[in-house]
Amino acid sequence: MTDQPHIRIFDTTMRDGEQSPGASMTMREKLDLAELLCEMGTDVIEAGFPAASAGDFDCVRQIAEQSQNDTIICGLARSTPNDIDRCAEAVKAAANPRIHTFIATSPLHMEHKLKMGENAVLEAIGRSVAQARNHVADVEWSAEDATRSDFDFLCKAVDVAIQAGATTINLPDTVGYAHPEEYGALFRRIIENVPDSDKVIWSTHCHNDLGLAVANSLAGVTNGARQVECAINGLGERAGNAALEEIVMALKVRRDTLQAMTRIDTTKLSRASKMVSQITGFPVQYNKAIVGKNAFAHESGIHQDGMLKNAQTYEIMNPEDVGVSATSLVMGKHSGRHAFRDKLAVLGYDLEDDALNDAFKRFKDLADRKKHVFDDDIMALVDDQLSNEGERIVFKRLRVVAGSEGPQTAEIDLEVDGNHKWTTARGNGPVDAVFNAIREIVPHEAVLELYQVSAVTQGTDAQAEVSVRLSENGIVATGRSFDPDTLCASAKAYLHALNKLEIRRQKRIAA
Ligand code: KIV
Ligand code: ZN
Repeated sequence: MTDQPHIRIFDTTMRDGEQSPGASMTMREKLDLAELLCEMGTDVIEAGFPAASAGDFDCVRQIAEQSQNDTIICGLARSTPNDIDRCAEAVKAAANPRIHTFIATSPLHMEHKLKMGENAVLEAIGRSVAQARNHVADVEWSAEDATRSDFDFLCKAVDVAIQAGATTINLPDTVGYAHPEEYGALFRRIIENVPDSDKVIWSTHCHNDLGLAVANSLAGVTNGARQVECAINGLGERAGNAALEEIVMALKVRRDTLQAMTRIDTTKLSRASKMVSQITGFPVQYNKAIVGKNAFAHESGIHQDGMLKNAQTYEIMNPEDVGVSATSLVMGKHSGRHAFRDKLAVLGYDLEDDALNDAFKRFKDLADRKKHVFDDDIMALVDDQLSNEGERIVFKRLRVVAGSEGPQTAEIDLEVDGNHKWTTARGNGPVDAVFNAIREIVPHEAVLELYQVSAVTQGTDAQAEVSVRLSENGIVATGRSFDPDTLCASAKAYLHALNKLEIRRQKRIAA
């Protein structure tokens, strides 16, 4: 046990994170991510903005329904009565529901965006927080653009929120404008000046426009904040939010000076980062702290020599602490089902019998085609399988003519609504031919916004990981797939995106 304060980790990947252009997630993806966040020990999950759309409402409601242990499930609401009622309805099934309501307090936002004076804003705060408290005991109030607000007015606004029943007060650096000394001082001064400041939990919410989001959040912590709002891989509006994995590891590694702790199981950070990157199609920068591919790689001779003598010479944390295992050679094609199931358990997967059988079959196929099967290959294989379950358009077979002779041609077999369909199409290169063939079988207007290929592991026989982003009339969907054959992975990723687009189209019609 320790008497160091517990810093609550509030994950907003599915709310602020999803607001980044192109980062939208399906219900299934959100449910899987929420499950992992719960397992990881995340204190609060902001699952969405229920009044924003019927889809957002459903996601928050289902996450609330599946929530386990003591994780708080939170929804965002503006200060309007309708937003708050919708939010309350969406989170009510959670064991620990929270309503997070906000209004802007800076002169700029009040005058130009809200067109409200100070008194009207104070009135809206009192009314919205009280309404939220009628629904749930746990209410967070945020002063949007707090760091550009007038200090005396901010104190008044916070006071009204506390007196109306808010239990957490968040001071967001909405536009990523503050620097650490300033942001820390804001917390210190406000906690000193506002009556009953000891009755609430203070929270940080920092955007990364100047690359200071993590530093600012930690400055908040050293000045009294006990909740940090952050997102996996730093996903979020514009330059993003404070990266969850960086906050958590900074608090763990520098506990000696930061004097605070979280309850996050850090060994799940790497998996969470991969999951979010795969869902959104946003690659993780190679040299990104904690979860980048190179975060624990040592290239220079001096560093390698030091590492061999004592890893602490150049490593301030163990890769295993964030869930990066030394690249482990898994089983070959002679490995049995038991060993495979054990491996999945070590990697954090618990599959039902049918899904396990499917995964095992796919593993055997992969082991036949690829000499070394690594942990990352297995994770890619299972994630791919889970994300394609129940799809309308299913990949069956592909044959491609490529190379300098041309013409580049793709012959593809698909199953659409259970019916076998096939065609042959040409293209300006093999990938174009594959996508044209799909478009012939499933005509659509979607525009290809992103096509990205990377390798899951090293070596020329590595599986290709392909991400495809399609957009149609403002609906965006990202698909991904893995295969040792880059063209098969490309076809499957395109179909994955197309299937997701279709689901979103249906939802929009229903809404
Ligand atoms: O950045 C911000 O101010 C927000 C609030 C809604 C909390 O995301
Ligand atoms: Zn934000």
